[in-house]
Amino acid sequence: MTTWPTGVPGLAWGADYNPEQWPEPVWAEDVELMRRAGVNLVSVGIFSWALLEVEEGRYEFDWLDRVLDQLHAGGVRVDLATATAAPPPWLTTAHPEVLPETADGVRLSHGSRQSYCPSSPIYRTKAVALARALAERYRDHPALSAWHVGNEYGCHVPRCYCDRCAAAFRTWLQARHGSLDALNEAWGTAFWSQHYTAWEQIVPPRVTPAQNNPGQLLDFDRFSSDALLELYKAERDVLHEVTPGVPVTTNFMVTWNFSALDYWKWAAEVDFLSNDHYTRAEHPERHIDLSFSADVMRGLAGGKPWLLMEHSTSAVNWQVRNIAKLPGELRRNSYAHVAHGADGTLFFQWRQSRAGAERYHSAMVPHAGTDTKVFREVELVGAEYQRIAEIVGSTVDASVAVVYDWQSWWALSQPAHPTSDFAYQEHVFALYRALWRAGVTVDFVPPVADPSALSAYELVVVPALYTVDDATPYEEYVAGGGHLLVTYLSGITDTRGHVHLGGYPGAFRELLGVRTEEFHPLRSGEAVTLDDGSSATVWTEHLHADSAKVMASYADGPLPGVPAVTRNEHGDGVAWYLACGLTGDGLDRLVRTTLDQAGVHHADVGQEGVEVVRRSGQVGGSAVSWLVAVNHGDGDVELSAVGVELLSGARASGSVVVPAGGVVVVREEEV
Ligand code: GLA
Ligand code: ZN
Repeated sequence: MTTWPTGVPGLAWGADYNPEQWPEPVWAEDVELMRRAGVNLVSVGIFSWALLEVEEGRYEFDWLDRVLDQLHAGGVRVDLATATAAPPPWLTTAHPEVLPETADGVRLSHGSRQSYCPSSPIYRTKAVALARALAERYRDHPALSAWHVGNEYGCHVPRCYCDRCAAAFRTWLQARHGSLDALNEAWGTAFWSQHYTAWEQIVPPRVTPAQNNPGQLLDFDRFSSDALLELYKAERDVLHEVTPGVPVTTNFMVTWNFSALDYWKWAAEVDFLSNDHYTRAEHPERHIDLSFSADVMRGLAGGKPWLLMEHSTSAVNWQVRNIAKLPGELRRNSYAHVAHGADGTLFFQWRQSRAGAERYHSAMVPHAGTDTKVFREVELVGAEYQRIAEIVGSTVDASVAVVYDWQSWWALSQPAHPTSDFAYQEHVFALYRALWRAGVTVDFVPPVADPSALSAYELVVVPALYTVDDATPYEEYVAGGGHLLVTYLSGITDTRGHVHLGGYPGAFRELLGVRTEEFHPLRSGEAVTLDDGSSATVWTEHLHADSAKVMASYADGPLPGVPAVTRNEHGDGVAWYLACGLTGDGLDRLVRTTLDQAGVHHADVGQEGVEVVRRSGQVGGSAVSWLVAVNHGDGDVELSAVGVELLSGARASGSVVVPAGGVVVVREEEV
């Protein structure tokens, strides 16, 4: 199976290209400007269904033929969409059952995009037919490099609550639970009179008078992720059948605010991984969030290179305030993705729209044209990527892993938990941030990791792994000499949502040598002090250390004298437990202590502005490493390096200066 867009020379560089929004004479100018910008890959046709199938079964592909021919003549490869991301109005008008429904029974109209129900047989049949028609039309087109199925599955409609979805949910539940008795047991329906006596009584977790059943919510999240995945697979299978040599992807949304798809499961179904990442324009640490997302992608890709399918050249149009990127930020963002393992970075989109809801979203060619900061930076990076093409195919090594789990994220997002102030993604980010600030490269791994996969790491961090049946892989990892840092809200329930009894943190209790008798979440704005001078917000708990050694206790607050951080020796390794919402400096210190004890080299305090990642691979049959450094600060930084700095071509014989706001890529030589 081909696992990368075919025929792309070097790093991929380009954008979503939506030529149908422009008169044909503009297309020739587009291709000429793409040449200037060094563009080598564009995604075409993502939202073109209404113009490709103008009425039921009547396809009009001539315009797309001309687009593809012109791109090919200009040397640009095409990631061709199956165009199924937005069904056309004729389809949803003729068959309103294609439209999705919300939890309160509102049918969502056409007039924007993604207005389809994942369980609609009509949508699926029409989408698969369009994918087949496109595959048959373009199977031999020389521009065809990859297939782009749908677009950002679940972005706008992560779950549909209609009657067809209710029926599909029941079928899914029958396969998962086998019998109604098992379902009643799993959902704990001996509660609030929820016991089911027939499958037909089961519906999606629609709007109810009080909180929904947690087991039902979690299963519906699982079902909804699977339902969209089935839809993707239906198109993918047709593409594989008609064009077996062309790799298929769909763009993920591994980002701070999207949780609906279990991407560990999805990752196994694409031929190469691709992601869309948009920075939070107003967030001062948006660059750390970018690295987080890129590292998760590399984890999903199993360490192999992945493609950044979309980011923005400057402002987006959908945040509260759409702040333009600073000079150099587009470049830093692009290199940061490459540093963390991307073999190409594309934008949404090529030419900024003049009509439609995305008029104010930046693009490679802005409204103001080419005499602009954005286009100049686009040309610069496009030219630079050609100088670092040798990096393609290389990988990133990490000695620390973080366990990341969409299912715990779903479970912890449900109502009726001990506090509403806890947010899974923010919690994982806080730990990642401390590792990032320590200059440590991190891999993300799935929750049910094979202990042998964990043993590749000196330190494994387990943040809020709430939904877990047992901790066996982690016990084996620590017994074998690993260092583990587990944080609060881990091990609390099994995968059905039933609480592990005997004290928290349930599944991890023995490994950590602790037992918590009661949660003590803090009040809004409340902070407690620990006896090592650090402080905590959001969360504390009434913890007893059994075999574990107490490393810090509360000095005040509701639990004075109670342990807050513990360390337990288990077999040949060490298991730490962080039982409170440790803030900023305290978390930095704890993470650096665990790194030191695990023998992981880390940067000194004060070096947080410059991000350094190493990729390693081969050039001409010899092993090579590249140091990619991105300076997010406003002062020049000097790093030790020996080799050739590829962007300038200059030799670094001992050190290299990463200019303020700039980047360097050094092909390192052994000294
Ligand atoms: C998403 C979509 C694109 C576009 C961008 C705008 O990533 O995939 O079509 O709407 O958002 O940021
Ligand atoms: Zn539905």
